[in-house]
Amino acid sequence: MGLWNETFATGNETVDADHKEIFELVEQVMSTSFKNKKEKVKTSIEFLADYVVRHFATEEGLMDESDYPHTETHKKEHADFLKVATKLHEDFVNDNYALGEEEGKGEIETEAQVLHLSLEINKTVVAWLTKHVMGSDRALADHYKKWVAENGVNA
Ligand SMILES: [Fe+2]
Ligand SMILES: [Fe+2]
Repeated sequence: MGLWNETFATGNETVDADHKEIFELVEQVMSTSFKNKKEKVKTSIEFLADYVVRHFATEEGLMDESDYPHTETHKKEHADFLKVATKLHEDFVNDNYALGEEEGKGEIETEAQVLHLSLEINKTVVAWLTKHVMGSDRALADHYKKWVAENGVNA
């Protein structure tokens, strides 16, 4: 059950809890999509986006606190992802997924839109998350753990 599993664990409790929530929210967006209710999909996407922004800030706080040597690269990955996610949201809101249907926001158009969105989310969001969590986030968690052990700070 769920997109998240132990192979995504970084070992940092706060980060892992956030990741679980993010994966759950992604699933929520996709399952809402199939129910074909545009307003609901839009609300779910926006909720997910807010959560992701807060999560990135949390991780970036850990980087700054522990003088992480790969801060710049990691922050850039976050920023690039937000650009992709913003585009996805804009395209959805602006009906750019209408796929050549006639004018108006009829059932068929909306259905095509949400299906397209689901596919895009799978292709971009899920793929990015998986790669980023297992690579960059795990490296950060390892570094932070070591830093805490060396500096005697309570994580
Ligand atoms: Fe990250
Ligand atoms: Fe993360």
